[in-house]
Amino acid sequence: MKSKKTKQRKTKGKTQKKKTVKTKKDIEPRIITFACNWCSYAGADLAGVSRMQYPPTSRIIRVMCSGRIIPTFILDALTDGADGVIVSGCHFEDCHYISGSKKAEKMIESTKKLMHLLGMDERRLRFELISAAEGAKFASVAREFTEEIKNIMKEKHGKK
Ligand code: FES
Repeated sequence: MKSKKTKQRKTKGKTQKKKTVKTKKDIEPRIITFACNWCSYAGADLAGVSRMQYPPTSRIIRVMCSGRIIPTFILDALTDGADGVIVSGCHFEDCHYISGSKKAEKMIESTKKLMHLLGMDERRLRFELISAAEGAKFASVAREFTEEIKNIMKEKHGKK
């Protein structure tokens, strides 16, 4: 049976793969998720182990605390090809480094201002507090954000 994307045809006994061209519809967003080792990364792990469905659009970068993230990490990701960035840390009272997630929240606000000044869409950056027990929340955030980024990409392509 022939699938839509990989049509094959036989020429002189040889099987050749037809080239597939990606359309705008096929383009999946690329999302970088900075996840705190102690909570959010464990939450992502729980989502995976519990077989919770979420899109494979996210690449997770584990950091020791969300307070470790600086605006340069986010802006570099966005200018180097990521369509969206999630910074995810522990709930404020659970941060292993006392005030890391509070610091991250402030950093996110200033980075959004910076993005606005640079003409970038601030919706491409999201901050979430996800504990190790919140696998379902991690999966739901990944799904929601992927849809939001897809809409932003559609808006962007619609303007051209
Ligand atoms: Fe998780 Fe600080 S240790 S956000």
